[in-house]
Amino acid sequence: MSDGTLTITDRAAALRDPGFCRFHTDSTAVVHWSADHGWSTYSLEPYAPMTMDPGTLVLHYGQSVFEGLKAFRQPDGSAALFRPVDHARRLARSARRLAMAEMPTSVFLDACAHLVSADDSWIPGEPGQGLYLRPLMIATEPELGLRDSRHYRCTFLAYPADPCFGRAFTPISVLTSAGTVRAVRGGVGEAKCSGNYAASLLTRKQANARGYDEVLWLDGVEFRWAEELSGMNVFFVWRDDDERHGVRLTTPPCQGTIMRGVTRDCVIALAGDLGIPVAEEPTPIDAIMSGARSGRLVEMFACGTAAVVVAVGRIADGDDDATIGDGQEGAVTARMRHTLMEIQHGTRPDTHGWLRSV
Ligand code: COI
Repeated sequence: MSDGTLTITDRAAALRDPGFCRFHTDSTAVVHWSADHGWSTYSLEPYAPMTMDPGTLVLHYGQSVFEGLKAFRQPDGSAALFRPVDHARRLARSARRLAMAEMPTSVFLDACAHLVSADDSWIPGEPGQGLYLRPLMIATEPELGLRDSRHYRCTFLAYPADPCFGRAFTPISVLTSAGTVRAVRGGVGEAKCSGNYAASLLTRKQANARGYDEVLWLDGVEFRWAEELSGMNVFFVWRDDDERHGVRLTTPPCQGTIMRGVTRDCVIALAGDLGIPVAEEPTPIDAIMSGARSGRLVEMFACGTAAVVVAVGRIADGDDDATIGDGQEGAVTARMRHTLMEIQHGTRPDTHGWLRSV
């Protein structure tokens, strides 16, 4: 991507095989906030390295929050952002938790819409592909005293993107966090701040070294309750002979330690539309492992803006390793994924009003 000076990326190559954000577009939108002047309006600027005083607050005390949202090509050739208002609100909530300035939704929407218009020719159009926007807001005041910044910069970056685990949606494997803690109630787990992701990396690297794709984080107090993956929420599909569909969905509740995922919210809404019972309820790891072995846990999937919806085919807790269902994508996961993708690409009615034309 960057050669360290001015970056140039190849649009034709990016559209042929974008991968997950391997190529950035040539534009960015930039918004500033200062204690004296408040919010600026966006300006469109060429993608370029940023210079920064080494004493800048973000580098020392980590005031850095971000978002991830997508724009999709529509059947009539236009582009639409997916649930940008929800992403704007979440960025403001994350900023608030880190004592940063809260960007008004209108400023966020304006910057996103103008960046997508400028980058229209970079939007890939195959199912599952989109233009991934990464608004990154950081403290830009040079200051070593421990306090919140008087200056922030939000840079909106754009990348043509496949889902982060690929367009084949091959099931992934997960290993539980085994005694390491990423977030506890009252901390910053619910904020989309850079430090949360940094805190997940060592455990994720160790899981990768054991052959697992991702970490299933357990709660940081009892090390018992399933929470989320490092960058995705998680759902469980249970066999339930009492239900009309024969299954029910559960997902861990938002109690301050997990991301209030926009895709998570979509899955809950779509389950309702499809008549599949869904509950936000705490789920212990022993029920997950025994459910996988007994066949009561028929499917498990992860979801997020970057991942979309991806099956989890295998789970391990320590040395206890189990296959979920037949290890392949199950019917409920596939239905969720297809339904969501069809709405995003404008081929299924958007009854929830999730798309916003650019
Ligand atoms: C997203 O799904 O947009 C995220 O921010 C996850 C990130 C770790 C790729």
